[in-house]
Amino acid sequence: MSTQDKDTIIELKSVSKRYGFGDAESYALRNFDLTVKRGEFIMIMGPSGCGKTTLLNIIGLLDQATSGEYYLAGKNVARVSAGKKARFRAKEIGFIFQNFNLVPTLSIIENVSLPLIYSGYHKTRRLHMADSILEHFHLREREYYMPYQLSGGQQQRVAIARSLIASPSIILADEPTGNLDSRNSHIIMEELKEIHSLGNTIIMVTHNPALTTYATRVINMLDGEIDTDIKTVDDSELPRGSKNEKVTIKVLPTRDPIQMEISSESDVVVSGENVTAADDKADDKKDDKADEKSERKGKMPLEKAGTVLKSVVENALKKKSDKSKKSKKSQSKSKGKKSTKSTKKEAK
Ligand SMILES: Nc1ncnc2c1ncn2[C@@H]1O[C@H](COP(=O)(O)OP(=O)(O)O)[C@@H](O)[C@H]1O
Ligand SMILES: [Mg+2]
Repeated sequence: MSTQDKDTIIELKSVSKRYGFGDAESYALRNFDLTVKRGEFIMIMGPSGCGKTTLLNIIGLLDQATSGEYYLAGKNVARVSAGKKARFRAKEIGFIFQNFNLVPTLSIIENVSLPLIYSGYHKTRRLHMADSILEHFHLREREYYMPYQLSGGQQQRVAIARSLIASPSIILADEPTGNLDSRNSHIIMEELKEIHSLGNTIIMVTHNPALTTYATRVINMLDGEIDTDIKTVDDSELPRGSKNEKVTIKVLPTRDPIQMEISSESDVVVSGENVTAADDKADDKKDDKADEKSERKGKMPLEKAGTVLKSVVENALKKKSDKSKKSKKSQSKSKGKKSTKSTKKEAK
């Protein structure tokens, strides 16, 4: 049984990952304990081969521990089926990798829409959502490019857009700036900072000690174990929506230009239910059907569009009001939230 409270999103108990047997036996992780609260931004450091990637892969359900317990949002996920893991992963976990891991044969927009395959949305809807999120990352003009046609920094921003599109609860990033120059690293870190400030949980592996300033907690690993674990921000200070609520953006697809509504809805870490419920698949199918039905009627709110959009909109609104404050200081009345289009300069 899990002992965790509502604010705990991840709990690893004595997790080990063993490779090989007998003389060839080695441990990538050894009796690893870790409790992660919602809203933490954890940086994991440590020498090459100490088990950082193994840890992220186990947390992200890409890999399975040899022994130990793993609770994700209160549910024991250590032994669920591969199919459920895949669905769960697509809905609740966003991955960002060092080498971007875009599918080379798919266009940018198709890459970004990939995690929505499990969402039950029609392809048109998925592409529409990908288009929206790419616009907010200032990559819309390139959405029909192929990955090789983009710079490393751009590819990583595409990967971030992809990691966010299904509104995951957790972002896992394995050396996301490892292949980028310092300017692009900075851009990526600022994006992650924004995502974190909305109350999202981020676990990131890095070799760059300078980046730990972004973290609320820094864990140093050594030989598959925790060497040091330092929280720089108290749990009570972690960013989160009001009491287990996360703010999402609803993109209303029928309007043009796209308008956004910021709404608050309870923090459905869909996670739990879907993973453990016996009639999971049936339920999901029902949900999917209902989604499609209401989608056809044009009623389906895109609450899956990603909490990140909130920050983008807020930024845009803030910049807009800053701008209008500057240019029309004498006019005290703002014209209001007519457009939510971001004014953020494109970072190349
Ligand atoms: N598929 C595998 N088979 C055997 N050993 C592996 C495998 N994957 C990782 N390891 C070993 O596990 C240890 C931890 O690897 P990894 O998690 O990739 O470390 P890090 O990301 O910290 O560099 C290393 O010693 C590595 O050689
Ligand atoms: Mg690694």
